[in-house]
Amino acid sequence: MSELDRINELIHQAAEKARMETSDEPEPQYVGELTWPVKVEIGQGLEGAIAGSTKVGYVNGAKGWLIYRGFNIFDLAEKSNYEETAYLLLFGRLPKEAELHDFKRRVGEYRVVPADVIRILQTLPTARAHPMTALQTATAALGALDPTTDAADIATKREHSIKLIAQLGTLIGAIAAIRQGRAPLDPDPSLSHAADILRMMTGKAPSPMDERIMDIGLILHADHGCNASTFTCMVVNSSLSDMYSTVAAGIASLKGPLHGGANEHVLYMLDEIGSPDNVKDWYQKAAAQKRKVMGFGHRVYRAYDPRARILGPLSHLIAEAHPEIRPMWETAATLEQVVIEHLGKEKKIFPNVDYWSGIVYKALGIETKMFTPIFAASRVAGWTARVLEYLENNRIFRPRVTYTGPIKLDYVPLSER
Ligand code: CMC
Repeated sequence: MSELDRINELIHQAAEKARMETSDEPEPQYVGELTWPVKVEIGQGLEGAIAGSTKVGYVNGAKGWLIYRGFNIFDLAEKSNYEETAYLLLFGRLPKEAELHDFKRRVGEYRVVPADVIRILQTLPTARAHPMTALQTATAALGALDPTTDAADIATKREHSIKLIAQLGTLIGAIAAIRQGRAPLDPDPSLSHAADILRMMTGKAPSPMDERIMDIGLILHADHGCNASTFTCMVVNSSLSDMYSTVAAGIASLKGPLHGGANEHVLYMLDEIGSPDNVKDWYQKAAAQKRKVMGFGHRVYRAYDPRARILGPLSHLIAEAHPEIRPMWETAATLEQVVIEHLGKEKKIFPNVDYWSGIVYKALGIETKMFTPIFAASRVAGWTARVLEYLENNRIFRPRVTYTGPIKLDYVPLSER
């Protein structure tokens, strides 16, 4: 069996396992048409609140399902590619052959970014600053340089979203290069998005196996319900702001360690643990200090995250071929068992997408601080698809908070304070 067939086999097996392990779980919640106003119970952090309805994607936390436009993530990871998945999210259906060909051509051409944006990245302390900060700055700069940024019509906004899907790939390639002390490479429109991103990030043409692994990573991160960064994008765009500002805000939200930043922090945690022998002691101390295990837990999933079901076995396959990451993988596998033993049954806390993705990217030769930027370069498809959908029936977001401060204070002049 070829390496590429082996990957498909792993995804297939992961899908089977998911089906078997979750078949008794309750039926989906949060589906169906919405009639405003709705009455729901809302917890802290807007848990349970409903921000709108969507046809873009669905997360069934009880069953551990992730659906993009009706298609199961396991099928997409096995059979699709990032460009097709992005098209699906944006346009609501799988493209026909000519449509996909045209979409790939446009994404390839749009990967060329203005030289001024690369110069901005070179002017920033890009080697020292967090790459997500550099990415956010460069994304806003793309908006400053596009003369159509403030166009209000949906067709132009859709074009912006395709440009952003394409150009975030080039930006993360340039940021990675600058951090390595290399000159950024020009994009190669003849390559797939995954292959070109990897080439620009590492400075080397990827093998078909590495290209496929990167492509799977991009497919798995492309959309995920109304998470913090997606909601951020929706809130920003609901004021009828532009798509570049919207995506720059999404990047800011994704950066945090409780969200996309967790993939980076998983690796710091595994480094800190050091070896499988230290896992039990480390976990006991972490639990006593009420420290969160990075890459575990989720607001929605009460079952194993389907993306982690794919990335876990994939990271194992890769670790077999990369002796340098094997000790880290073994530490991660031991920690996974220990945490599931303690928190899996009792609190339904399982690994999420960020637990295994870092090990996979590390094997592809990518530095730890670049993991979250890859997440952003993929998620931009889901962000913009949902924003475009919401614009069809836009209403500005405006929740309330309760005021707990004083109300009738007397103003004291400065000299009397
Ligand atoms: N390790 C240990 N305990 C945890 C963890 C964890 N990773 N996650 C949740 N818990 C416990 C938490 O201590 C709390 O326990 P108790 O009820 O006894 O106080 C309970 O589970 C509920 O946790 P919560 O923090 O209220 O849950 P939340 O829905 O507000 O937060 C989360 C979800 C993902 C922010 C959280 O699970 C977490 O901080 N995980 C670690 C960071 C991480 O991996 N983030 C990536 C999320 S998935 C992909 C992405 O968005 O990028």
